[in-house]
Formats: sequence, C-alpha cells, structure tokens
Amino acid sequence: MVGKESHVEYDDLTPARDGSLRIRLPRPSDRLDQDAEHCSVLVDGEWQDIRFHDYDRIYRIPGLYEQLFHDILDCSSPDVIAKLLKEELQQDGYEPDSLRVLDLGAGNGLVGEQLRNIGVGALVGVDIIPEAREAALRDRPDVYQAYHVADMTALSPALRGELASYRFNTLSCVAALGYADIPPAAFRAAFNLISDNGWIAFNIKDRFLSEEDTSGFATLIRRLRDEKVMTLLTSERYQHRRNVSGEPLHYFALIGTKNSDIPEDFLP
Ligand SMILES: C[S@@+](CC[C@H](N)C(=O)[O-])C[C@H]1O[C@@H](n2cnc3c(N)ncnc32)[C@H](O)[C@@H]1O
Repeated sequence: MVGKESHVEYDDLTPARDGSLRIRLPRPSDRLDQDAEHCSVLVDGEWQDIRFHDYDRIYRIPGLYEQLFHDILDCSSPDVIAKLLKEELQQDGYEPDSLRVLDLGAGNGLVGEQLRNIGVGALVGVDIIPEAREAALRDRPDVYQAYHVADMTALSPALRGELASYRFNTLSCVAALGYADIPPAAFRAAFNLISDNGWIAFNIKDRFLSEEDTSGFATLIRRLRDEKVMTLLTSERYQHRRNVSGEPLHYFALIGTKNSDIPEDFLP
C-alpha cells in the first residue's frame, strides 16, 4: 500500500479492454517526484495502490510494467538506447553479433528484447531483486542466456568468476541509475567487468547530470569523460517518459567506449 497517500483521488485512465489491466493514476494536482509516483491497479477485483519504485510488486503482475510505463506513460528508453547503440556500431563498422552484453538493472527484459532485435551475440541480465528475474523468465524466456539476481557491490567469488568468464564487451543500463536504484559503486563494478574498448550504453535523468546533483553521478560521469576513462560518442537529451501529470521527464542517453577501469577514488 502507498500508506498515507492512499487517500489520493485517482483518474481512471484505462477503461477495461480485453486482456488489459485497469490502472488509475493520481489526479494531476498531486505533485509527486519520480520516486514517489504511484498508481492503483485492479487485481482480482481489488484496487491495489502501488508505488512505481515497488518493482517487486509491479513485476509480479504480468503486463503491468509494460502497460503502465510504456503504453500509458510513453516510456521510450529501451528503444532509444538500442537505436543509438546500433547507430554507433554501424558508424564504426561493428557487427552487433560480436557484442557480449551485461544488462545491468535488467528488470523484466524490455531492454534485452531491444538488444536482441538489433542482433547482439550474447546477453546476460543482472538485477538486484528476484522478481525481476522471475518476470523476465516468465515474459521473455528467450532473451537472456543467463540472468543473475545480485548486488554488483557484493558479488560472491563464484558469481564474479562466472560474470568474468562471459568476457563482456558491452554494458547496458537503462532507467536504473539514481534515486534508490543503482548507485555509482554498482555502476562502477559493472563497468569494470567490461573489456577495454567495449561499449557503454546507458541513460540517466537530466537532473543527475546537473550542477545540483547529489547522487554522485554528475561528478562520476564528468570525470569518466574528462579523465578519458570513457570516450563519449553520443549524448542526447530526450523524453524518457511522461510523469503521472502528463509532463515530460527528460533523460540523457549516453553511448561511449571504455578506455580503462573506473578507479575507486572516482566514487563520491
Ligand atoms: C525502472 S526498472 C528498469 C528495467 C529495465 N532496465 C528497463 O528499462 O525496462 C529499474 C530496475 O533496476 C533494478 N535495480 C535497482 N537497484 C539495483 C541495483 N543496485 N542493482 C541492480 N539492479 C537494480 C530494479 O530492481 C529494476 O528492475
């Protein structure tokens, strides 16, 4: 439950149609930051209030993530990142099937699906919650060749060895950095599993790259570029999705190539 916010009034945006869930969003007058957004969903005849960051609850309801973020709120990020990566590969004359990708914060597999569409060779997902893996295996069973539930900052020696054995040359990380999601230390751990000259494809909310950023990502990404740990090939500001009030949320899509590991002192 959303707790003290459960009194809010909702607009029912999705009249029932075959096979779809009934979802209500809070009225536009309820101003919410992205990590406080929530909705109400009709499940087995009962309305459940679910915060957008309660990914475990969202993934347990088949189709909710797709319907909420993609159909209603127009999330474009998996498409945008895959398309930009494909363009950079083409410019450099790279065949997508040579890519061995670590998809960090893989969720229920929407990014993996787009990466499969552009023809990547190998694809391994990592997410911190088991519900993400269960949803990916349930909804997109053929997308990942392996999918691990793990905290990148506390890998067991066995899993570290297994991840190293994939010899990843690409990192994707979409809609998962910042807020209470992936911290700089976990991003660094994943980045450092990618081989030198590998591809780095990710996005991040524009605010986390601004002067006011307190997440640590603005400084980290500036240093990656300035100190040539990563060569930035593309940086594009675009509409990631709309918020519950219908206003655009802007993110940066970044595609680069890795030159060297991120030193520990780059972390906040
Ligand atoms: C908004 S979803 C994005 C999922 C997918 N990348 C997409 O674009 O559809 C964010 C995902 O990041 C995962 N996540 C949050 N913190 C994480 C962490 N520290 N390590 C790995 N995954 C994390 C969440 O469990 C969730 O599945």
